[in-house]
Order: sequence, then C-alpha cells, then structure tokens
Amino acid sequence: LRVGVVFGGRSGEHEVSLRSAASILEAIDRKKYDVVPIGIAKNGQWLSGGKAQALLAGESSQGSLPAKAGRKQAHAKAGAAVANALETEAADELSSLDTGKLDVVFPVLHGTFGEDGTVQGMLEMADIAYVGSGVLGSAVGMDKDAMKVMFAAAGLPIVKHVTLLRSEWKGSPRKCVARVEERLQYPVFVKPANLGSSVGISKVKTRAELAPAINEAAKFDRKIVIEEGVGGTGRTRATGKARELEIAVLGNDDPIASVVGEIVPDREFYDYESKYDSNSTSEPVIPAKLSRAESKQMREMAVRAFRACDLSGLARVDFLMEAAPSGTPGKAAKPAKIYLNEVNTMPGFTSISMYPKLWQASGIPYAELIDRLIQLALE
Ligand code: DAL
Ligand code: MG
Repeated sequence: LRVGVVFGGRSGEHEVSLRSAASILEAIDRKKYDVVPIGIAKNGQWLSGGKAQALLAGESSQGSLPAKAGRKQAHAKAGAAVANALETEAADELSSLDTGKLDVVFPVLHGTFGEDGTVQGMLEMADIAYVGSGVLGSAVGMDKDAMKVMFAAAGLPIVKHVTLLRSEWKGSPRKCVARVEERLQYPVFVKPANLGSSVGISKVKTRAELAPAINEAAKFDRKIVIEEGVGGTGRTRATGKARELEIAVLGNDDPIASVVGEIVPDREFYDYESKYDSNSTSEPVIPAKLSRAESKQMREMAVRAFRACDLSGLARVDFLMEAAPSGTPGKAAKPAKIYLNEVNTMPGFTSISMYPKLWQASGIPYAELIDRLIQLALE
C-alpha cells in the first residue's frame, strides 16, 4: 500500500505537525507500507521528494512559536467544508506532485487548513482514503462553538460560555462585556473559536483584562468563545484550578476509549509554550488518579462525544474536572463535576504525545496504532 504522510501546513501549528510526522515516519512499518512523505510549506506550497524531506529536517527552529495567523486563516470556519478555490488549487498541486497513486493519506496536520475539514474535502474530491475524521467531523472538531452545540445536543455537560462575533465586539464592546458578565463569573477563558494548541487564548480574572483578551483572540478568528473557568466554588473559585483530563478514542462506528490521562500544568493553564517547550511540560499522569466510577463515566462520555461530532479514526477528548472540593470534615465530599472541553481530531502525535501515550498505556504500542489507523481509513 502506498501511504502519503502529509505534514507542515499553513497553520500556527506547522512545527508541531512536523514533529508528529517525524515520529510517524520513523515508526511506520516500511515492510507493509510504501511511504510517501508530502510536505506543505507555511506559504501553502505542496512539496514531495527531497523538498518534503528538507521541510521535515528544517524542524530544528527551537521553540518556534506559531506565526501570527494570516487573514485567510482567520476566516477558516466550520462552514469551510466545501472546498473553495484554495483547496482546488491544493488538489491540483497534490495531483501534480510526483507521488504516484496513493492508496491512503495520513494528514498529520494540526489546526486550520488541515485538521478542519479543508484537506479532508480535497481528499474526498480526489477520491483518496485518509486517516481520521471526514469533512463534517473535522470542521466541527476545529470550531469550539459548533462543537459545544453538538455536545449540548447530545446531553453532554459543557461549561457555561458566550460566543461573540468579532463584528459584534468591534460594534459595541460595552454590550459584549455586559453579555459576558451577565452570564459568566470570572475567571473566564477567552479563545478564538478555530485555533488549536491554545494559540490566542487568555485567562481573564477581572473586567480590566477582558477587552485586551478579546482583542487578542479577535486577531485570529471572527468568532470568539468565552468560557467560565472551572475551579473551586464560592470563595475558592478564583484560585481553584480545574483538573485537565484526556482520553484517546480509536475506531469508526464502534470506537473504543483508552485509559484516562491527566495533564498537570506548571503554569496558569496549559498554554502553547507549556505544550511544546520541552523545559516546561510536566509528565502527564497515566492513568489519572480517579475513582473507578469516574473513569468509567468519562470513557463513556468520550465515546459519546466522538459520536456527537460524527468523528472517525481517532480523536483525543479533553475534559475539565472541578478540583476535588476540600469538603467539611465528617461530610462526604460531593462528587466532582466533569465537563466535556473539546475533541481534537488530529491530536499531537509524537511518540511522547498524549494520544499515543494513552494507547500505549492501554495496550496498543505506537507502531501498531499507526497501522490500525491506516486500516480504519480503508474500512
Ligand atoms: N492541537 C494539538 C496538536 C493537540 O491537540 O495535541
Ligand atoms: Mg484543540
């Protein structure tokens, strides 16, 4: 089988994608698969052969932070399902590459123009099987607002939130602030609806910090999602931190869930730098310290979330859990509330990323995981 591994891309997560792909290219079974590396430069140019290898090798730019999202990126949205002129061009580029016929593509692309349904739409048009979710699932999984609509419709618990359009914000900031404060309590998280890896996200503790945070998020997207922070309750709310728990899901119509892992951030929240700066990322805890009932409940929720967003192949499902209430002595602590945070349809895939680690801990080693994903793509 000829497998095209596509990496790089026009998103702020270009570098992360290179790292994920390098791990996959190293581990994939070369006896079984004829592997064709395909790179997408930051400017959108498609590369094969030596040029693709060079893109991959140029990965060393240390700790490189994402390039500021361009205008086009800001316009990426859930509705981008229909391939537009850009994707048609990309399709031309793909077919003109010297790759020979591909049986399946593994789009190891994170973020906009890759994880969001655009490349998936192009592959549909080219009639090539691919790893991961289709157009709809990918688009929903990239849009934090649309995703919440799907979760809520499936009866899955989500945190309180407000969605603002950039035009509403520019038109009347005062009204927007009022809307946020009417519905949410500080601290809140302000996020561009469509980016990954925590790009453009701020934690806001006071009204004074709100406008700068919304302005920052509005640089990246025309839609901004503001979520109430999950933490302690009452007086401890402002300082309370949520636990961040993650589950890996694998499969198509009948998906399975891994054990639960926990991120223990060493910062205010798990931001872009703590995700990818190797000096600051602490080891995840796998399996997370949870009661049996809690982890069972979360694994069921993960599968429901996967189905709710119409995903296939793989996804990492992220949860927030109220930090255990300290509890009055003598009284049994109330069970901590669990919320669905988001799904990631092409999660980080280096051999030390959470998604493969969760499967490793659940009995599926890295190389076998790649193999299973390719087989799922061909189902
Ligand atoms: N968006 C990054 C790659 C992740 O979710 O792992
Ligand atoms: Mg994400």
